Amino acid sequence: MTDTASQSALQAVRGMNDILPDEAPLWLYLEDTARRVFEQYGYRFLRMPIVEPTPLFVRSIGEATDVVEKEMYTFEDKLSGESLTLRPEATAGIVRASIQHNLTYERPQRVWTHGPMFRHERPQKGRYRQFHQLDVEALGFAGPEVDAEQIVLLARLWKALGLESCVTLKINSIGDPTDRHAYREALTTYFSQHFDILDDDSKRRLSTNPLRILDSKNPAMQPLIENAPRMLDQLGAEACTHFDGLRKWLDSAGLAYEIDSRLVRGLDYYNRSVFEWVTDRLGAQGTVAGGGRYDGLYESLGGKPTPACGFAAGIERLVLLLRETGQSAATAPLAYLVHQGDAAAALAWQLAETLRDAGHDVALHAGGGSMKSQMKKADAGGARFALILAEDEARDRTVTVKWLRETGREQQTVPIDGLVAWLTAVAV
Ligand code: HAM
Repeated sequence: MTDTASQSALQAVRGMNDILPDEAPLWLYLEDTARRVFEQYGYRFLRMPIVEPTPLFVRSIGEATDVVEKEMYTFEDKLSGESLTLRPEATAGIVRASIQHNLTYERPQRVWTHGPMFRHERPQKGRYRQFHQLDVEALGFAGPEVDAEQIVLLARLWKALGLESCVTLKINSIGDPTDRHAYREALTTYFSQHFDILDDDSKRRLSTNPLRILDSKNPAMQPLIENAPRMLDQLGAEACTHFDGLRKWLDSAGLAYEIDSRLVRGLDYYNRSVFEWVTDRLGAQGTVAGGGRYDGLYESLGGKPTPACGFAAGIERLVLLLRETGQSAATAPLAYLVHQGDAAAALAWQLAETLRDAGHDVALHAGGGSMKSQMKKADAGGARFALILAEDEARDRTVTVKWLRETGREQQTVPIDGLVAWLTAVAV
């Protein structure tokens, strides 16, 4: 191809972002903190493929959901003709892996994963086409204490991240399938009585999934939704007991929550408990984590009945929130080694390795240049000091230490043989 368009610089796909080195430390800080908290509760890491057979998502997330109807990146495998999809979420893949490897055969399992998910949504702040989730699942647990455990775990994560004052908790129960069937009928009757004032989306959802009408963000629909029958009033005895149990555990943990009877979630596999942690600091995309119980999913994917619950948190939204609250996590080497001349270059190379052996972070200058330009790079890289090895130092087997952050601190000369001990002393 020789046309000009084919030679112009290529850009990332719309809605799919690069995470550059200046932004990455906050991501790593968040992921490390989350991992630590998840491990505290006994959750173990697993990783699944990013591509799965399309029917996995259709059968789990549900045909009448926005995700399956219009947001999936689906393509045909060129050789086999099989329909494949870039995962829009992680739960379906985890349950597929659990069934395939008989993960819960001997005992229930607490697992977590993180990574990219793909949804063809309209990109805006906090909403992307490739986004990243922290995903936590408890597989094979029936009681409400596990639902509560995951909510409390998130509260601990917010505290560890300094975000506890920016987020609030909403919970609801959407009952068991029979309760929901009755509720569906009640909703269908109610919304049919007001068919003329339904918007187009809601008219469509009335026959496919009337529960999703409750999720509508259209302001014109809100008064009608306000007065719709409430799921909580239709719960069967078992779902009611489960919800009371969840509330009891949350109360005993001293956690504040709002019961939001309109919280239905956008994926079809849920039953009983659903919850979301929301913030008002990010505009329209304010849900930072959401999840719930999905006791029927194993069976609908061909597995044995296995009660389970889980949640996912959006990493981009949490990073935005961390930034919003003024947090940063910049990383920089302790020392930047500058050098001049062949003998000094060879010595500097060895010295950098020796210092790294001793556990220090050292950036070694590469690419030549004057002392002045090397010092500029040392400063821009954020190091605490420069270690200078020019011809004199190489001859005397010393380095000159020049402080880059502590103004007023005199430069000093340190013998190379004593440098590890000196660095260890100043690094604390
Ligand atoms: P979800 O509510 O679809 O649930 O997504 C969970 C979180 O992922 C959202 O609260 C949000 O923070 C983030 N998120 C979703 N879509 C986007 C997007 N386009 N851009 C940026 N962030 C986004 C699930 O995915 C379920 N699998 C959660 C779960 C796990 N339920 C049980 N286990």
